[in-house]
Formats: sequence, C-alpha cells, structure tokens
Amino acid sequence: MDFSKIQKESMDKINSVDNLDQLEKLRLFYLGKKGIISQEMKTLGSLSIQERKEVGKNLNNLKELIQQEIQKQKISINSKALNKKIKEEKFDLSLPPRNFYNGKIHPISQTIEEVINIFSSMGFALEEGPDIESDFHNFTALNIPPDHPAREMQDTFYLSDSEKNEKLVLRTHTSPVQIRTMIQQKPPLKIIVPGRTYRCDSDSTHAPMFHQVEGLLVDKNSTMANLKGCLVDFLKIFFEVDKLEYRFRPSYFPFTEPSAEMDIAYSKIDGVLKIGEGNEWLEILGCGMVNPRVLNNCGINSKIFQGFAFGMGIERISMLKYGISDLRSFFETDLRWLKHYGFDPLHSSSKTGL
Ligand code: PHE
Repeated sequence: MDFSKIQKESMDKINSVDNLDQLEKLRLFYLGKKGIISQEMKTLGSLSIQERKEVGKNLNNLKELIQQEIQKQKISINSKALNKKIKEEKFDLSLPPRNFYNGKIHPISQTIEEVINIFSSMGFALEEGPDIESDFHNFTALNIPPDHPAREMQDTFYLSDSEKNEKLVLRTHTSPVQIRTMIQQKPPLKIIVPGRTYRCDSDSTHAPMFHQVEGLLVDKNSTMANLKGCLVDFLKIFFEVDKLEYRFRPSYFPFTEPSAEMDIAYSKIDGVLKIGEGNEWLEILGCGMVNPRVLNNCGINSKIFQGFAFGMGIERISMLKYGISDLRSFFETDLRWLKHYGFDPLHSSSKTGL
C-alpha cells in the first residue's frame, strides 16, 4: 500500500468537499468498517512481525491524520454555512417593536410605601390589623362608649354576627390597631399603621372604602412638641419642600387629649398647587396626646406612660402630592388613568431617596 499516495489523495478529497453529506461519505470510505483502513488492517496478519509493526504504525498514523482532517473540514463547512446565513439574513430595523405591557403601581400603594419609608427611617415599626373589627377595638377601648355622639361622627358599616353576640364593624379608622398593639406589646411603642378603612359615605370627596395611616408613640416622656416635630419632618420629606407653614387647630377626638388638627399652607398659581407656602390652609391630619383613659383600657399605666397619636387620609395626601383631582378616580380601575398616574415598578422608590 502506498501510504503517501493515499494520504495525499485523502487530504485533497476531504478538502475539496463542501457539504457534510459528502464528508460523511468520505469518512466511511476511509474510516468505515468496510473502509480502506479497515481492509488494510485485516491484511496485517499475513505479514511478518517486522512488517506488521511498520505497516500497523503507518496505518494508525494515516487513520489519525484523516480523522483530524475530517474534523477540521466539518468545522470549516459549518462556519461557512453560518456566515452565509448571516450575510443573507436581513433585519428590518424600520419595523415597530412589539408592544411591551409593563404593570404600574397604583398611586395609593406608592403613597403608602413612601409614608412607611419615611416613618421607618424615624424608627417607627409597621403594624397592621383586620378590616373587620370588633366594636370594642374600633370604639369602646378608644373611649367611644355606646351611644356616645362621637359614633355619629363616623358613619359605620355594622356587620351582623349573631353567633358571637358581639357587634362587628368594618373599621372606620386605623385607630383600633393602636388598641391591638397596646394590648399585645409593652411600651415603649412606636408604630405606623397603614390600611383600608370604611365609612358609609360616598360623594366626590368621600369613598365608602378609603385608606388611612395611623401613628402611635408611647413612652415615659413624649410631649406635644415631639408630635409636632415628627409631623413637620414627615410632611417636609413627603411633599419634598424645605419650607412648611403649618398650624395646629384645637379639635376633639375621644381618644386623644388634647386633640388637634393640623393644617398646612398652600397656594395655587396658574392652576398648579404649591404645598408649604401661601395664603390658603389645607386640613391634613388629626392628632393629639393619647387619652390616659385609652392607655388604661389597654393595661398601660397612664401615671407612668404617655404618648401621641395621629391619623391621616392616604388618598388626600396622594392627591395633593401627585395632582390627582377626583377621589373617585382612585377606585374606577380605569387602565388609561393608571397608565398616566401609576408608577413604574422599577423606579417607584420615592424621590426622598429613603
Ligand atoms: N382616627 C381619627 C379619624 O379617623 C384620626 C386620628 C388618629 C386622630 C389618631 C387623632 C389621633 O378621624
């Protein structure tokens, strides 16, 4: 067998094919069971030991060479095919992209998130309570006894629950979570409570379901001045203003004594609301020092502990911050509205950087 002739021939043939089928045929021709190399191997037995060694070595070398060459050619054929495909393929960059629907965060969720972030940076812990509340937590423990005229202040949805013989209500404010926390935990307490609240009321400025956020601090020496500082700091960060004119008006809540309502100044220039300065006042929240009776109702010694509490409407502060004019639009589930007023989930953190 003329090894160098076969070697040259095989290399030429392998290098001249341009598709994988032909290459496979060549592989079988040289390396297959009935291929040239195998046939030649079979003749080794008839050779002398010396010749057998020599020829066997040459055959193995040739086999290896052919294998390598076939592998190289395979890679070359494949990459040529790929390059050809890429060259021929045309990308039409003028085609419009497919619609990509990104969900939006509702302004209420966004506002709650911002409020929690600000208060948690001041050390307030998050607490939550049930929407269906007992009369005790929603009223009685908050110093609003049965038949107290204060119950009329909040038009209540009552639930009938004859089995337990206990009156249940849809909570009219987040204040019952003050009670739940004070009964379960020992002071000092510093909590922030966002949540849904319900009142039997519906017009352009009232919805039967709305949201509040409640704050409560109980310790040994908190004062009205602490309450004031805490609220002013919060409002400045929330509304992103350096200057905030405000006033506290004496008010009445059965669960705080003394009680106040806080107003902040605003002006409207060319229809744009400016919060913090101006000649008009906006009522923004209710607050006061926790009534000692409420502390006692929860088993906290009011001779040792005192505290402050506040509550505000989430919709209201959200409307003011984001220029939303109609309360009802929050609950109409209008996708166009949500696309306009909603927040991008990936960029939703408040500009306060908290
Ligand atoms: N719960 C009161 C309301 O709904 C608000 C409030 C909370 C007032 C805490 C004082 C202290 O009107």
